[in-house]
Amino acid sequence: MQHDDTTAAGIDGGVPVPGAWPADMTLIPDWIYTDPGIYEREKDRIFLGPHWNYVGLECEAPNPGDYFRSYVGPFPVVVARDEDGEIHVFENRCAHRGVEFCRAYRGSGERFICPYHNWTYNLRGDLVAVPFRRGVRGRGGAPAGFDMAAHGLAKFRVARRGGVIFATASDEVEPLEDYLGPGILKEFDATFDGGEMRLLGVHRNLVRSNWKLYQENLKDPYHATLLHTYLTTFGLFVTANETNIPTDARGRHGGLLTRRPEGRPEVTEEEQSDMQAFRAAMELNDPRVLDFVREFESGWSASVLTIFPTLTALRQTNILNTRLLVPRGPDTFMMVWTVFGRAGDDDEMVRHRLRQNNIFGPAGFLGIEDNEALAFLQQGVRRSRPGYGLAMLGDDGEPVDTMITERAIRGMYRYYREVMNLR
Ligand SMILES: [Fe+2]
Repeated sequence: MQHDDTTAAGIDGGVPVPGAWPADMTLIPDWIYTDPGIYEREKDRIFLGPHWNYVGLECEAPNPGDYFRSYVGPFPVVVARDEDGEIHVFENRCAHRGVEFCRAYRGSGERFICPYHNWTYNLRGDLVAVPFRRGVRGRGGAPAGFDMAAHGLAKFRVARRGGVIFATASDEVEPLEDYLGPGILKEFDATFDGGEMRLLGVHRNLVRSNWKLYQENLKDPYHATLLHTYLTTFGLFVTANETNIPTDARGRHGGLLTRRPEGRPEVTEEEQSDMQAFRAAMELNDPRVLDFVREFESGWSASVLTIFPTLTALRQTNILNTRLLVPRGPDTFMMVWTVFGRAGDDDEMVRHRLRQNNIFGPAGFLGIEDNEALAFLQQGVRRSRPGYGLAMLGDDGEPVDTMITERAIRGMYRYYREVMNLR
């Protein structure tokens, strides 16, 4: 597949040409979700490009020697805390033959030993031992000039803020704070306020869709008012809620901020007629899932941040979680949900957070609906005649205080088209 840098814009007789994106940003071509060549290009230009990739939380490796496995885009990495407390991120690929050597999802130790030939690395990813390096009885072994320092693991640069860890392969990316931009940084800091965090659990599931669709989903308040019975019926997310949809100056990151009213929402008959998901008569058997213990210095009861390329950070009532999207080809991604609380939580608060987290996750009251909708969307763009999706709702200007907008989706794709050089 050719993707030359000077592709003609336009719809070309109605058939989308891979690599050629119409000038009209309300049209999203199917091939960005399905084309293997586009996926390969994303590896270089996005995941190894000038971006800070979320890899995990500091509370996942609180003590020296702690480590866990994660991903930069599709690439497996290890996140480790060394004896001095510094965090390192390196590829989970032995420098010898390429073995994905770290098999435990999470652990603690002083060394990583590749199971195949026992090449051994320290917590900084440096090569510290090669068995039979000098051969046996003067024969065999590594060449005389073999330099251990030149054969460590491939390392990423690391940035940390508020207990959140990011990694990049780029020497050109701006500092993390500039990367996020002031508006998104403010909302990031409101959730990751420097208070000590406590890991409550992780779940992982595969979604049969392109990874970008999940970022879109969380930049799309329109669907949330229509698809999700739980959100609308119990007032977590209804059109009447006060809302703001900020994006950074380049459009790549977004926020979806809402304030939940006390009690059940006021929903007019006109709004109800547009909301199939709303069920006025529905009640919860355990209404405690909706309890909201105020804990953050923020006027928003819910904050969903989409940080390009693969992080979403959620604070919804007392649910705190991050989602890492791990692309597995154009048609599938793995989602890693990391659920956390605060170090000072008592047992009751931990119970409350875990109970409330039932709304998310692979079988959550609401998470399951997104997973299904995105799988259906992927089927549509993969199986039907090639075409375009529409993202034309709302204006591109500020202020953004309505949920009936697709502005943040257009913003992400404006940036995506630029960084992928698809203009
Ligand atoms: Fe959703």
